[in-house]
Amino acid sequence: MKTRITELFKIKYPIVLSGMSWISTAELVAAVSEAGGLGILATGILTADETREAVKKIRTLTKKPFAANVTLYFPGAERNADVLVEEQVPIVNYALGKGDKICKAVHAYGGKVVATVATKKHALAAQRDGADALIVTGYEAAGHGGPITSMVLVPSIAETLDIPIIAAGGFADGRGLMAALSLGAEGISMGTRFMNTVESPVNQKAKEYSIAREIHDTVYTNKVDGLHARMMKAKGVDRLMKKKLNPFSALFRSRQIAKMLGFPWLKLAVGITLMGPKRAMQMARMAIGFDAFRIGTMEGDAKKGVLPMGQVTGIIHDTPTVKQVIERIVKETKDVEARVSKKIK
Ligand SMILES: Cc1cc2nc3c(=O)[nH]c(=O)nc-3n(C[C@H](O)[C@H](O)[C@H](O)COP(=O)(O)O)c2cc1C
Repeated sequence: MKTRITELFKIKYPIVLSGMSWISTAELVAAVSEAGGLGILATGILTADETREAVKKIRTLTKKPFAANVTLYFPGAERNADVLVEEQVPIVNYALGKGDKICKAVHAYGGKVVATVATKKHALAAQRDGADALIVTGYEAAGHGGPITSMVLVPSIAETLDIPIIAAGGFADGRGLMAALSLGAEGISMGTRFMNTVESPVNQKAKEYSIAREIHDTVYTNKVDGLHARMMKAKGVDRLMKKKLNPFSALFRSRQIAKMLGFPWLKLAVGITLMGPKRAMQMARMAIGFDAFRIGTMEGDAKKGVLPMGQVTGIIHDTPTVKQVIERIVKETKDVEARVSKKIK
């Protein structure tokens, strides 16, 4: 396959593994890149040392291009971004923040930058900041998707911007890749589909949920980690949606984030205090969300925790290997093209 994305990233297929905390590990990233796609390492929950180790590990597992992401909204993200630049990661993916500095630093060593956005405004800002490509995330997506469906968001951004875009949110097979290409995207990025693969380190129960759950079995709310996100409908989500918070609990909760990210707590606590009550509440929610996502993802416990899941779960029915997913998508895309072209002759 040849699209602007395969050319830009020097990959065989325009199929990307989304950066998913606890899931998009060195091993899964390498499996996707080895199979001809592009794996994105998730660094959101990693310390700077862990990020460096993971990048080195990927390089022992594959010689193919790979990417790593930084979610700039998270504490510690800038340190992880510095590590990615020091290690000269071929493709850096950033989300939820301004990426001009990252673009400049990555371009200086010849790397490429892809920004993840969910609105046209952020897409335009990322292009202005120097991003080489975008991952455009629609409402269907697991995790932090925007309020507009991929069906509308993708063509709207594709017709406005010059840089190539990768569609995310609602893609799991060749029908999806063909649709994305038709809407003006140059490839797809998938989270929920790759979460349910043999190589995925997610808890086995999460894989089983992803097979059993239907298209209506997810919920979109900002009551879990303070940002709108989609996750599997379950008791854990219901409980968190009802949870009342106050700014003081933000300080207490920030200890958990600081500990996990190896970040000085005092610095984080001062930062939160200076942010004012609204942002402090958001940080409190984020700390709760972090823990809930970890329990849902790694323990498969949907009563205590929360499992990010896209609507596309309703068309995922098995647990193949990464290679099978990619080969299947490539074949299906060609079959869809043949089937559709007969209809429109
Ligand atoms: C279990 C799981 C965990 C995720 N964790 C993150 C994360 O930590 N950071 C992030 O930006 N997106 C995360 N996402 C969202 C994906 O990066 C991606 O945007 C989304 O899965 C795309 O939509 P899809 O699920 O329909 O393929 C996660 C998705 C899943 C399924």
